[in-house]
Amino acid sequence: MSPQQIESLRALRLDFSRLLMQHRFVVDEMLTKISILREESLHAHSYNPIEHISSRVKSPRSLLQKVHRRGLPLEIDVIRQKITDIAGIRITCSFIADTYHVLELLTAQDDIRVVEIKDYIARPKPNGYRSLHAILEVPVFLRGGPVPVICEVQIRTIAMDFWASLEHKIHYKFNGDVPARLIEELAEAADAADQLDRRMEQLHSEVHDGAPDIDSGEDFDDEALRILWDLSMREG
Ligand code: GTP
Ligand code: MG
Repeated sequence: MSPQQIESLRALRLDFSRLLMQHRFVVDEMLTKISILREESLHAHSYNPIEHISSRVKSPRSLLQKVHRRGLPLEIDVIRQKITDIAGIRITCSFIADTYHVLELLTAQDDIRVVEIKDYIARPKPNGYRSLHAILEVPVFLRGGPVPVICEVQIRTIAMDFWASLEHKIHYKFNGDVPARLIEELAEAADAADQLDRRMEQLHSEVHDGAPDIDSGEDFDDEALRILWDLSMREG
């Protein structure tokens, strides 16, 4: 290997670690945005649309494998554009309506650019997979100024998440070659999960539309009293 080649490999390695660092930053930024949405909603409606948030940055190894699998060149700008799931955030909600609501709140933010939305809830994958996927571009503020960084946000219900993690395990166990009987059962389980989601949502909306919300503190006319009530509820 010539000295120039070694030098360019070194530069690539540095670019690569910078790329991963930027994706760690975008995850941090998104986690902040999402927890603000969560807190604000709790504060305003005593309602938490988000059950659980998880995140990950692709490992260098799995990123390189994906670059190789896709037949992409080892160029940072190409990788940055084409591999849209280096930064991944997963949001789990109780109800289907909440998944759309959270997506709406996120995509309405001025600094977020929507690259692509895939609605696998309205149009599930043939195996039964359901979730909302959003590819978003968010500025990360570095020393030299803002750099747009792409992340993948998956939003789903608890039932969809339960199904997806089981499907993932089965897929792995059989190395992608899942027996037909299991594929069929998984599709049935996905339908059952969807029915559960719809029934829970129905029940939830009946409770919310009908009986008064005992914890809402809406009986208080006085703004100061209401705020105190909110605070006391939050502090248990
Ligand atoms: P990659 O699969 O990531 O190369 O991208 P894609 O273009 O196929 O995107 P897609 O939106 O279909 O899937 C991206 C991610 O969604 C995956 O990495 C998984 O995390 C999740 N996902 C998609 N399909 C399935 C599925 O059938 N089962 C499970 N368990 N997860 C899925
Ligand atoms: Mg895929």
